[in-house]
Amino acid sequence: MTLQIKDLAEYEKVYAESIKDPEAFWAAQADTFTWRKKWDKIKECNFDDVNINWFVGGKLNITENCLDRHIPSRANKTALLWEPNNPDDEVISYTYQELLNAVCKAANMLKANGITKGDRIILYMPMVPELAIMVLACARIGAIHSVVFAGFSAQALADRTQDAQAKMIVCSDINRRGTKIIPVKAIVDEAVAIGCPSVETVLVHQIGQEDIAWNHTIDKWIHHEVKDMSEVCEAEEMDAEDMLFILYTSGSTGKPKGVVHTCGGYMVYTCFSFKNVFQYKEEDVYWCTADIGWITGHSYIIYGPLLAGATTVMFEGVPTYPDAGRFWNICAKHKITQFYTAPTAIRALMACGDHWPEEYDLSSIKVLGTVGEPINEEAWHWYNEKIGKKKAPIVDTWWQTETGGILITPLPGITDTKPCYASYPLPGIEPVLVDSEGELVEGNNVEGLLCINQAWPSMIRTTYGDHERCKNVYFKMFKGRYFTGDGARRDEDGRIRVIGRVDDVINVSGHRMGTAEVENAINEHPNVIESAVVGFPHEIKGQGIYAYIITDQKEAVFADFFNEIKQTVAKEIGPIAKPDDIMVVSGLPKTRSGKIMRSILRKIAANDASNLGDISTLLNPEIVTEIKKTKGIN
Ligand code: PRX
Repeated sequence: MTLQIKDLAEYEKVYAESIKDPEAFWAAQADTFTWRKKWDKIKECNFDDVNINWFVGGKLNITENCLDRHIPSRANKTALLWEPNNPDDEVISYTYQELLNAVCKAANMLKANGITKGDRIILYMPMVPELAIMVLACARIGAIHSVVFAGFSAQALADRTQDAQAKMIVCSDINRRGTKIIPVKAIVDEAVAIGCPSVETVLVHQIGQEDIAWNHTIDKWIHHEVKDMSEVCEAEEMDAEDMLFILYTSGSTGKPKGVVHTCGGYMVYTCFSFKNVFQYKEEDVYWCTADIGWITGHSYIIYGPLLAGATTVMFEGVPTYPDAGRFWNICAKHKITQFYTAPTAIRALMACGDHWPEEYDLSSIKVLGTVGEPINEEAWHWYNEKIGKKKAPIVDTWWQTETGGILITPLPGITDTKPCYASYPLPGIEPVLVDSEGELVEGNNVEGLLCINQAWPSMIRTTYGDHERCKNVYFKMFKGRYFTGDGARRDEDGRIRVIGRVDDVINVSGHRMGTAEVENAINEHPNVIESAVVGFPHEIKGQGIYAYIITDQKEAVFADFFNEIKQTVAKEIGPIAKPDDIMVVSGLPKTRSGKIMRSILRKIAANDASNLGDISTLLNPEIVTEIKKTKGIN
């Protein structure tokens, strides 16, 4: 069984050992899984050319570990519990045996449709059980899944599909979110029309009753395709370093990059971290509210919990439908024991009033988790008092798409908790702070750039199709270390607080947006000459998007123009990337070499005119005065 740390003394001992002898530590963890063939060597990792290999020579299939392995002891245990958007609709649950059967059927359907090991498949689906089943079906046959969040636009979907050179898109006809119905298949049709020549088949899962547009050459209904498939599907033997999935995420420059994770290391790390961070016990019912379109859903709705033999809950809807008590209603209904959500959701629900959680019996909750963005102190205390009743420790988990799993977090009931602090590293993880020159920032009560020293099993292997980019973004800046892109502080007791991104990445409601990506989208509007986008503090979303725009639209009706800009961004990326605020400017502050001074724009967007630095060296210092004036600050 995977190690589950029980107390502080054990954490300290295990941590020290794991850093001193990572090979021995990870070998012991990996040993608890089903391998077709054991590894020859625990790791071969080189950060210089980013050649990361764990469990070298090992052979396995992750779905055998998520499903088949549990059949002798957990065949009738609920694996997946699905709560529908509409609270009056039926809850659907799958036991481990039923989930295995469903995954095998879906895997056979993929094979019957020409999919073989190594093919890439885009999954563009809402939060329905079939999405989890399709993820696992891909893994069963060695196809590489790339889940695209169903809120992304046709253009964003087409970009990702083409970058991955995917052979198939799996989608649904519609997506139900609160009172809204989103025409998912119509968006896929649009993406295919934009151009996805690699796509041979579109498989469609039926949710609605309405007729939808149909392309007879490539579209197929899943219920037709899956009907006669066998419930037995031999799992494909995968090398530990074969690709498991690609997940696109935004960086500070260029298009979103496809973060690649592989089979063996990801399996070992997500299971280990899940069991320890949530202290999962056999009877527990664990719920993570994330969407499977993001890494949190991959690692801590599907893989981590299933690898650990847990009952994992999946929710189709939104926190405020039919009312702001929905999350708490679900917690009470299913007697949730571990509840994992994002600070944005906590802030939004806090703003709806204390009477919502007070209506429900939340006494089953033992552990509360947060992820995706810094949690402010007020929200932390509300979560602690109103949801956890001060009895459920909060695990403020820090990690990234690239890290594959949680790296820095309190362990509930084991290490202490402090508002806003992700606190301590998990075993095998060695975080350090460095200054901009790469010098170690030692001691306590200090700030620096957060790096990770040693390799860990679930770390990024490459960015799909562009290994150089992976090297440059994460490994080149500080030799021998993985650079996270985050700034952090270490307190007097050595706890770590992650402050936020130090690059041009904005974290909106826990979703990563690259400033360049949003600017490129805005620039698609015919009347935009140039734009600059920055993040600014936002009460609910953590960060909002502020866009400065130069336009040739002289007689602009700005309300309409701004609306058009927002629609342009929604079309290019998706509604989550729409700017919250827009200012028309006659120029952007630039250095003499033409670089936009985002630090100045960031401060002004935050209504802070202090310490703008020496603006006299700018190409156009007068523009700063103009922008400040328009913003109404001095
Ligand atoms: O800035 C950090 C922030 O989210 C970034 C990673 O985003 P993404 O890859 O989308 O993954 C989110 C879910 C794992 C990080 O670089 N972040 C994540 N967790 C925390 C956080 N910031 C502060 N505290 C956290 N607990």
